[in-house]
Amino acid sequence: MLYSKIIRPILFNFPAETAHNITMSQLELLQQSSLGRLIIQSMGGPVASNPIKVMGLDFKHPVGLAAGLDKDAKAIRGLFQLGFSHIEVGTLTPRPQPGNEKPRLYRLKEDQALINRMGFNNEGSIAASKRLLKRDKSWGIVGGNIGRNKLTVNENAVDDYLLSMNHLRDVVDYFTINISSPNTPGLRDLQHEKALKRLLEAIYQENKSFNNPKPLTVKISPDLSKDEIQSISRLAVDCGFNGVIGTNTTIGRTGLKISDRTIEKMGNGGLSGRPLSKRSTDAVTWIKEAVKDSVAVIGVGGVFTAQDVLDKTNAGADLVQVYSGFVFNGPSMIHDIQRAWRK
Ligand SMILES: Cc1cc2nc3c(=O)[nH]c(=O)nc-3n(C[C@H](O)[C@H](O)[C@H](O)COP(=O)(O)O)c2cc1C
Repeated sequence: MLYSKIIRPILFNFPAETAHNITMSQLELLQQSSLGRLIIQSMGGPVASNPIKVMGLDFKHPVGLAAGLDKDAKAIRGLFQLGFSHIEVGTLTPRPQPGNEKPRLYRLKEDQALINRMGFNNEGSIAASKRLLKRDKSWGIVGGNIGRNKLTVNENAVDDYLLSMNHLRDVVDYFTINISSPNTPGLRDLQHEKALKRLLEAIYQENKSFNNPKPLTVKISPDLSKDEIQSISRLAVDCGFNGVIGTNTTIGRTGLKISDRTIEKMGNGGLSGRPLSKRSTDAVTWIKEAVKDSVAVIGVGGVFTAQDVLDKTNAGADLVQVYSGFVFNGPSMIHDIQRAWRK
């Protein structure tokens, strides 16, 4: 109520990235005191525990925050206070980078969607690991989503992933290998079979060499055919991975209410939110068909309501993540989803 009637209209008056920065800095500030945390929690509402074990990890319930919202792990305590069972930080690259030029984030209100070409703006995996050192494991599960720096060519991409894994190895609970962002030129080429096999095998070996290996997941694009999605999923299983995340944002622009002219003006970027719901649910179905029960399936894309969560879990998802839904529905999202389930 407070969010939809007062906070969202104020935030939506600002350009999308400014609104994002305001929200994150408020959360970062409030999370530091017990009063602040109480305020955050009261905005979220009570969230019930509904424990589930996935990839050997204990999740309080299936719904978490997708990568990209808290790239640098600055506000995880506050975000956990809103009830997410897990938070995927990142995408983190081994070296800090500014990302693409602004404006690079757009809100499509009538479509309940976002378009972004952020380009992995982040302070780097070392800075994030220092912040994550201070976290309390009881808050929830933290995933470390990693990618390559923009200036690293694909031939050397493996080195970037391994570097970030080493920076984050003691502070995250699982790793996500991001090969599906549309905003780092050439990154999606890593989804091609030969390159992918080399990458996933190297990551698996590195992880195995750690004292405390972490579950490994790979995040894939919705802009692939069913065959491609299924062969990547099978390859991930063959390479010893523990989960597949479907999906990242799409470069598609079909079925939008907003005018073609406005969309054209916004330019390139990944589309997320409501228009992605069906495509990502289809991807979950295909992934599940390919991996059966051998590894975890994590569904993400256009989740706004309890029904959207059910659509993903019915399609085979063990866990569900949200990003755009949280921007539109606000802090009470997890509570609202759980309340709808109880009805
Ligand atoms: C502004 C923005 C930034 C994102 N950044 C990342 C990122 O850094 N790494 C990543 O794997 N996914 C990123 N994503 C994709 C989301 O994690 C998610 O896969 C996608 O938005 C679909 O979910 P949604 O429809 O709930 O937003 C980003 C999405 C948005 C909207």
